[in-house]
Amino acid sequence: MARILILGRSGQVATALQARLPADGHEVEALGRDVLDLADPAAARAAVLARSPDVVINAAAYTAVDKAETDEAAARALNAAGPAAAAAAAAGVGAPFIHFSTDYVFDGSKGEPYREDDAPRPLGVYGRTKLEGEQAVAGANPRHVILRTAWVCSPVGSNFLKTMLRLAGERDELSVVDDQRGRPTFARDLADVVAGVLTMTAAPPADAWGVFHAVSGGETTWCGFAQAIMEGSAARGGPSCRVKPIATSDYPTPARRPADSRLCTERLAAVYGLRLPHWQAALETCLDELYGPRNTRTQS
Ligand SMILES: NC(=O)c1ccc[n+]([C@@H]2O[C@H](COP(=O)([O-])OP(=O)(O)OC[C@H]3O[C@@H](n4cnc5c(N)ncnc54)[C@H](OP(=O)(O)O)[C@@H]3O)[C@@H](O)[C@H]2O)c1
Repeated sequence: MARILILGRSGQVATALQARLPADGHEVEALGRDVLDLADPAAARAAVLARSPDVVINAAAYTAVDKAETDEAAARALNAAGPAAAAAAAAGVGAPFIHFSTDYVFDGSKGEPYREDDAPRPLGVYGRTKLEGEQAVAGANPRHVILRTAWVCSPVGSNFLKTMLRLAGERDELSVVDDQRGRPTFARDLADVVAGVLTMTAAPPADAWGVFHAVSGGETTWCGFAQAIMEGSAARGGPSCRVKPIATSDYPTPARRPADSRLCTERLAAVYGLRLPHWQAALETCLDELYGPRNTRTQS
């Protein structure tokens, strides 16, 4: 049992952590941005020192990938400067620092799943500032676990799955890019990973600290993901519509995104014995939470 300070409160991962960690007996305090502006390094440092927790988990970030392109200073403050200060303060009170990063630190040109030691080459401001955050956290606190994840979804918050379901209620057809590959990952499964990591931080295994890839099993494209969302929603009486595959070039966005950002999760399995479920199983769980089990509504 540990006293855990979570930076972030109402985000997808922060919410899942607050739901999951007390079940293991942990005492959890989560700070929303109304209490701590993580973009302010002095405030981040003071918040950690004042509480002197056993473990700090940073689930806060500047996650607006397109907006970051024209808001670089704010993205850098929240994704790098604040986390660095919090990680240093955690080191000062003897606490490990668990931090989240992204598949967007890679350019997507490898052609097979990225390993932790592959050279990063972010294509945009979000990925660049998250990479700077990784490096700053690692430099500030040797006892760090940086979990690179991808395509995060959950029943709460703002994410691709929620957007697809909302638009399905408004339109007959959605056009979704079919040439970006990745591994949709659910916040609940990331909370399970953190719970697993926490069971070992008191007596850490060899190679316990560093960067780990934490994404679902399987792979798909955004279009494949959207089609699975529609099928699963329809099977529960939820909103659904046709999904038409398009190319990235047909859907220009301010930020470039990697074409193939699949991450290899072998290191997390080898060091911590942790493996996330297949994305399709995780999607089923998420849709169950939103609409109930398959077919119950259509049968009644
Ligand atoms: N979303 C994705 O698809 C994705 C993909 C790869 C990696 N990740 C990484 O996974 C982690 C969790 O992401 P998420 O999807 O849970 O994020 P999210 O749902 O967008 O939530 C963002 C969180 O950041 C907090 N926040 C925003 N501005 C803040 C500020 N100035 N000071 C303090 N807190 C602030 C929010 O605080 P409140 O609690 O006050 O709202 C919220 O808890 C992040 O490190 C992200 O980079 C996400």
